[in-house]
Amino acid sequence: MKDDLVLNYLKDNLETHSSGEEISRKLKVSRAAIWKHIQNLRKLGYEIDGETHRGYKLIKTPDKLFADEISYKLGTKIFGQKTILSYASLDSTNTNCFKLGEEGVPEGALVLAEHQKKGRGRLGRQWVSPKEKNVLISILLRPILSPAQVPKITLIAATSLARVIHKLYSIKVGIKWPNDILCQEKKLCGILTEMSAESDRVNFVVLGIGINVNAQKEELPPEGIALSTILGKSVSRVEFLREFLKELEKDYLRLKSGNFKTVIDDWEKYSATSGKRVRVDLLGKKIEGSAMGIDEEGALWIRRDNGLQEKITAGDVQHLRSA
Ligand code: BTN
Repeated sequence: MKDDLVLNYLKDNLETHSSGEEISRKLKVSRAAIWKHIQNLRKLGYEIDGETHRGYKLIKTPDKLFADEISYKLGTKIFGQKTILSYASLDSTNTNCFKLGEEGVPEGALVLAEHQKKGRGRLGRQWVSPKEKNVLISILLRPILSPAQVPKITLIAATSLARVIHKLYSIKVGIKWPNDILCQEKKLCGILTEMSAESDRVNFVVLGIGINVNAQKEELPPEGIALSTILGKSVSRVEFLREFLKELEKDYLRLKSGNFKTVIDDWEKYSATSGKRVRVDLLGKKIEGSAMGIDEEGALWIRRDNGLQEKITAGDVQHLRSA
């Protein structure tokens, strides 16, 4: 038996003390084994009250991204339902998740890490995040899409992030097309979507997301900001992640059922790019103009100063001050 059965028992009975005898009877393991599991949980940082005649009671849960913390009564249909791998340290959650994809693991698998040695950002950049402060996650998806439609997944993730941040903390965030969540013009979250595909068919997608949750200002690059800095207090990473996964799954299911247009409408509500003067770097070629918004494919449309409208499907966008 793993520690999680005892932990879940205590979570199911948060209001009362549960005696060792009662837990051992319900879980059909010896009292000595229960005691051992309680000790293990305490070592992991769980605060468990233990009184000789009353039994055990869970007092406090550590804010660690343990698989059991994420999965407990999560309430999703796919995400985190079969596989959640949580690491203290690895190179990149995207790299590990990609391997799961190649091994044929079903969609919805989650890879989490408290630290990445080679965290990757878009366009060959690094993703820097201090240990045990933020959320670093990759999600394995197997959508029936053509490779050209995969950027939709990035837009979905950005929309769900913006919505859940607003819902939980009443913080107004903006999405910088395609994938940055900004607050106070600094970067709160980044998304790196990678895929394995043939010319006309996607095998799988790895949706990698980094969220600055509790990092101190000096632990982040100058362009980054954490939720805790904005709120002036630390935030439960577990609570945030669980809410985000539920929200993201709803949006992903909207895509799967052909309702992507409704996601676009939501994206526009949070867009920090639409209406702005922007410069887009298209692999060295720079385009300037006014961002009009995104179309039903998720591409950004720009009106150039000569009146021509240009469709942007990939690239790096810079928000400029209005002329
Ligand atoms: C960007 O804004 O450039 C994208 C950053 C994406 C970072 C996340 S952290 C979890 C996952 N693993 C990685 O190596 N990268 C993504």
